[in-house]
Amino acid sequence: MVEIEYRKARVSLGDSDCVYEPAEDSFLLADAALEDAEPGMRILEVGTGSGFVSAVLLANLKDIYLLAIEINPHAARCARANGVEVIRTDLFRGIKPEKPENRFDLILFNPPYLPTSKEEKVPGWLNYAFDGGISGRETLDRFLDEVRDYLKPGGKILVLISSITGLEAVREKIKGMGFKVDIIERKKVSFEELMVVRGILL
Ligand SMILES: C[S@@+](CC[C@H](N)C(=O)[O-])C[C@H]1O[C@@H](n2cnc3c(N)ncnc32)[C@H](O)[C@@H]1O
Repeated sequence: MVEIEYRKARVSLGDSDCVYEPAEDSFLLADAALEDAEPGMRILEVGTGSGFVSAVLLANLKDIYLLAIEINPHAARCARANGVEVIRTDLFRGIKPEKPENRFDLILFNPPYLPTSKEEKVPGWLNYAFDGGISGRETLDRFLDEVRDYLKPGGKILVLISSITGLEAVREKIKGMGFKVDIIERKKVSFEELMVVRGILL
C-alpha cells in the first residue's frame, strides 16, 4: 500500500488502483496552497483524488474549513479515509451557489490536463485523473466557467497546469472570467513544465 508523508501530512492510497497517486503536480499545488492559505479561511479543493493537497493544508493550518469534491467514488472514499470531507460530484453540480456556506476564500484544482483522444483514454475511473479532452482543457474550462459563483468577493483560485495544457489559452480564459492572473510556481519535470496559476477575483 502506498503511503506518502509530506509537510506534516500522511496520506495512504488504500487498496484501490483507481486513485491518482500524488506526484510532482500535487506537490507543487500543495506548496503554492500553503503559501496562499491563511488560518480561518474557507477552502474548496476540486478533484481531490487521494485527498493529498487537502490533507497537507489540514495538517499545517489552524481553523480552516476545508471541503473537497471528487467525481471518482474510489478517490472520494480514499480522501475521506485520509481525513478530508468530500462530496462526490461532477465539478460544482452537487453544491448550490446560493447557499452562503458554499462561498469560499480559496478554491484549488489540479485538473486532468493531458490532451487525450478517444484511443488514448485509460479504462475505468482513473481516466478522470488524466483526460483533459482533445484540447487538454475541457474539464478546466468547465471549472472556470462556474468557479466565480463559489468565491467570496476578492476570493482566489489556484490551478495547476502544464506547458502542454497551453498557458496562454488558460491565462486568457481566466482573465476573461474577471480575475487578475499570475503564475506563482513553475517546475520543469521531464518533457513538461508545471505551473500554478493564481487568479484573484476583481
Ligand atoms: C490530476 S488528478 C489530481 C488529484 C489530487 N488533487 C492531486 O493533486 O494529487 C485530478 C483529479 O480530479 C478528479 N476529477 C476529474 N474530473 C472531475 C470532475 N468533473 N469533477 C470532480 N472531480 C474530477 C479526478 O478524478 C482526479 O482525482
